[in-house]
Amino acid sequence: MINKIGIVGGGNIGGVLVSEIVSRRLARNVGLVDVAPPEFAKGKCLDIAEATPVYGADVNLEGSKTYEVLAGADFVINTAGVPRKAKPDGTFPSREELLATNLKITDLVAAGIKKYAPNAFVISIANPLDAIVYRLFKKMKAKPHRIMGMAGVLDSARYKYFVAEAAGVSVENLEAVVLGGHGDTMVPIRSASRIYGLPVEQFVSKTKLAKIEARTRAAGGEVVGLLGSGSAFVSPAISALEMVEAIAFDKKKIIPVAAYLQGEYGVKGLFLGVPVILGKDGIEKIIKIKLTADEKKALKNSINAVKKTCAEVDKNK
Ligand code: APR
Repeated sequence: MINKIGIVGGGNIGGVLVSEIVSRRLARNVGLVDVAPPEFAKGKCLDIAEATPVYGADVNLEGSKTYEVLAGADFVINTAGVPRKAKPDGTFPSREELLATNLKITDLVAAGIKKYAPNAFVISIANPLDAIVYRLFKKMKAKPHRIMGMAGVLDSARYKYFVAEAAGVSVENLEAVVLGGHGDTMVPIRSASRIYGLPVEQFVSKTKLAKIEARTRAAGGEVVGLLGSGSAFVSPAISALEMVEAIAFDKKKIIPVAAYLQGEYGVKGLFLGVPVILGKDGIEKIIKIKLTADEKKALKNSINAVKKTCAEVDKNK
């Protein structure tokens, strides 16, 4: 059992994280920080704490508006941010304005983690994923193997789900890899995806696979459109916990995460979705995949998109 997990942001994803940690009895203590008034984090924690007798789980939950609640956490999961919604004057913030706001929030998050849980593994979920995890890393001066973004678990789960549905097989028979940035440039790697160890093309036509890959790239937006407000929240939370468990239980599991690259895949100094071995030291190894010429081209395109976003981050001091 983990001693303590800290969560930043107790909205939709943060709420699922807390209840799922209790349900799995994954940690003895959970500290949740959310700045929302009047005492939103306290309320979230009290609601879930009152269910612990029903879960049969002795987990201490502490919510607060301030960051000291993260003290001593072994893991911190970051979900803090504001979504794109109308301003009081009815206009929508531009992409740049929204990024600037979320970077300001991220700077507060970085300072809070650095002060209260400097040795924690950090898993960031907040969007824009590649930019936020990069900013956290820079501001925290974190060790590269101890900080990562959650994107690949979810992106590859979406790909697996769509392919399994088309093939008419169990989702458990699927292996899939999605590389690159967490956005519409991500690259589902068909050549490394398998159904029961066999090439996916044996089960699903190339035309159908191309459609599935396009759907995977736009899958976050599809959920946003259907929900009407907010974005996917169960699948991101569960995906982040897969990463926590791999590290906490030293599983040495190969999982795609947004990792800080230092020359791998021809990338230096950026976070990019790649498969890694997760174990007790965090990211223990980055796994290289042989790509086809088309996949290489698509990955290059994705890398360029991430580079562009991170350059915007660097401009915004
Ligand atoms: N410190 C702590 N919490 C904060 C801060 C801050 N400085 N600023 C905002 N928050 C909180 C908000 O009060 C809100 O409760 O972050 C929470 C975000 O919750 P939601 O808006 O419900 O968003 P959620 O669906 O949980 O997604 C969180 O993950 O997938 C991404 O795009 C998504 O960036 C978003 C993030």
